[in-house]
Amino acid sequence: MVRRTTWSQYRQSIGDRSGLFAAVVDRWPVGEALYPGSYVDLSPSTAIASVTYVDTDARAGRFFADTDLVEQELAGRTRPGAGARVRFLAADYTGPLEVPRRSVDLIVSLYAGPVSEHTRSYLRPGGWLLANTSHGDASLAVSTLRGPSSRLSITATAATACRPGGSTSTSSPGARTWPTRNASAPPVAASPTRARPSPTSSS
Ligand SMILES: C[S@@+](CC[C@H](N)C(=O)[O-])C[C@H]1O[C@@H](n2cnc3c(N)ncnc32)[C@H](O)[C@@H]1O
Repeated sequence: MVRRTTWSQYRQSIGDRSGLFAAVVDRWPVGEALYPGSYVDLSPSTAIASVTYVDTDARAGRFFADTDLVEQELAGRTRPGAGARVRFLAADYTGPLEVPRRSVDLIVSLYAGPVSEHTRSYLRPGGWLLANTSHGDASLAVSTLRGPSSRLSITATAATACRPGGSTSTSSPGARTWPTRNASAPPVAASPTRARPSPTSSS
């Protein structure tokens, strides 16, 4: 029998980001999110109603295919209305995804490469990119989207999202905002501060 890699196991090594997503939803109207390179990080579904997870890793595929397990993992952890739709695409995010263009409120880019470069077409006008600086995606998004004609708003959020014992908090010391919120892709740069996730060491 193949042993499932689960979000609860993964949380033991990277911590729980539920508080980060709760903070995002408290601040912005996010009902639909896309998480390319999610591995088994189910935390967005604790706060967001509909999340599409994307990964090429077979362990992620097995985890999300077990809908009972996903339901169990979310039990007692969701905010009202969250976790209603959990969808997984076993796909390479650099190629086309079965996601309507300009349809999602939030793209999540955490430790998974240049997600924003390949998936921004799925973001609705006025939507948000949550990216951290690891793998350079926050910087890439800023350099690509910021320019003389861009009306870009960037909030830099230092997120202490990963803490042993499950408690989670976020903070925004020195949050910075540039001019006006753009219709195309204002990013939130979030920086979870604990261990770098490395799914290759999981079973
Ligand atoms: C370091 S893990 C990070 C997982 C999760 N985002 C986190 O922060 O805990 C990177 C994940 O991105 C996935 N990944 C990397 N490039 C990908 C691609 N082009 N398409 C789909 N998944 C990809 C890997 O399979 C892996 O599961």
